[in-house]
Amino acid sequence: MTTVLSIDQGTSGTKAVVVDGSGKILGLAEQTVRPQYLPGSGVEQDPQELFDSVLDTGKAAVAQSSALIDIVTIANQGETVLAWDPATGKPLSNMIVWQDRRAESICAGLANHRDEFASRTGLILDPYFSAPKQAWIRKNVTRDGVVTTSDSWLIHQLTGEFVTDVSTASRSLTTDLDSTKWDHELLDLFELGDEKLPRILPSDAIAGSTSAFGGIMAVGGLIVDQQAALLAENCLEAGEAKCTFGTGAFLLANTGTSAIRSTAGLAASVAWTVKDKPTYCFDGQVYTAASAVRWLQGMGFIKSASELDVVAAADSGGVLSVPAFAGLAAPWWSPEAKASLTGMTLSTGPEHIVLAVLQGIAAQVAELGSLVASDTGHPLQRLRADGGLTQSRVLMQAVADLMQIEIDVYPSQHATPLGAAALARVALEPSRTLQDAVVPWSPSTVYEPKWSADQAAEFRARWATAVQATR
Ligand code: G3P
Repeated sequence: MTTVLSIDQGTSGTKAVVVDGSGKILGLAEQTVRPQYLPGSGVEQDPQELFDSVLDTGKAAVAQSSALIDIVTIANQGETVLAWDPATGKPLSNMIVWQDRRAESICAGLANHRDEFASRTGLILDPYFSAPKQAWIRKNVTRDGVVTTSDSWLIHQLTGEFVTDVSTASRSLTTDLDSTKWDHELLDLFELGDEKLPRILPSDAIAGSTSAFGGIMAVGGLIVDQQAALLAENCLEAGEAKCTFGTGAFLLANTGTSAIRSTAGLAASVAWTVKDKPTYCFDGQVYTAASAVRWLQGMGFIKSASELDVVAAADSGGVLSVPAFAGLAAPWWSPEAKASLTGMTLSTGPEHIVLAVLQGIAAQVAELGSLVASDTGHPLQRLRADGGLTQSRVLMQAVADLMQIEIDVYPSQHATPLGAAALARVALEPSRTLQDAVVPWSPSTVYEPKWSADQAAEFRARWATAVQATR
């Protein structure tokens, strides 16, 4: 039975779990990491803090488990980038986090290539993706070293290899979605044509080995965190979808083995490539979910996320929120959009604002579900959900009400590392299929819609009007 050290290096924290072949967690360690929010929509992280958190949590989880580890895997943030020196591994810039909007001007300068990017990469020309931020670093921070996504640097620190995985590469705006190879013409458009590029590995590859966590361990099964959760939640067939409620909320729907593009404004990416066969997904993003909850906390409306359901009113009293604290993604793609609260009166209190923000997150997720339906021609039958905010019954009920489908809550808080662990098992034991590497599960809670279809439609129409005012 393969024992995996699976590390989820996320935006707000790093989590390491040691998991055995049956999915049992033998060791667990977590550390918070703190993004810095800069004037002018900059969001940065200290690379050393991130790497230290990977080492510290990894070692702590291994020590707690007392297990012999066969393989280490890392799930990464997807579109967070930095410059670093490949000779020494030393960072040459901070991490520029996926929420950072400063590369907007780079995208604006390439606006006449928007359709080309969409047809070749499946993505929308937006500062969310990695290449605009890499180009921004080259223009504004340093021309030295290499400029890559965070995974390449972390894996280099651990193994000395210079690689990325195919799901991460597919989030760049410089990877051809069909061939899953770097697209040199698109790299040229971002003036990244002369960059040294990491080798793109399939998801079931072994990248190298490391002794950073004790004895020598293989490193492999690398993947973007969102795709890892899609896998853990057993969304292996086209049409199956999940939403992870973390720093942001990300709804991903498996679209099968052909690289279909969205016509509704979703991003199309590689979910994973296993046994040389890519599986694709549509991806819709709510940039601020737990980030919006942290804003509620910062304003003093709640003391912590665990107070959300205690404080939230049963009715928002007409208050509506579009929690676009870091712009809006699919289908609006408005990096400049700002968050809003409307409909307040002198009797509005924190309880109304808390509910309005939760409903605003739910409304965005419902929009994403509708986009998947319009793209695939099949309304989602149900939605699987994971992440810290699934603990809010109010939020989950709002999602069920506005989407008018049942929501199946994943029974563990560790979907991302469990998904990466499944891939690591396949990487180490190539005779295994994904189907038998993913641990079966049944929902801890199922939320059924309580609102009528008319109520949901009326709310969504009002909320859509509020969105227009934020742009
Ligand atoms: O696209 C960014 C996303 O993958 C980051 O996920 O869990 O760090 O909020 P998380």
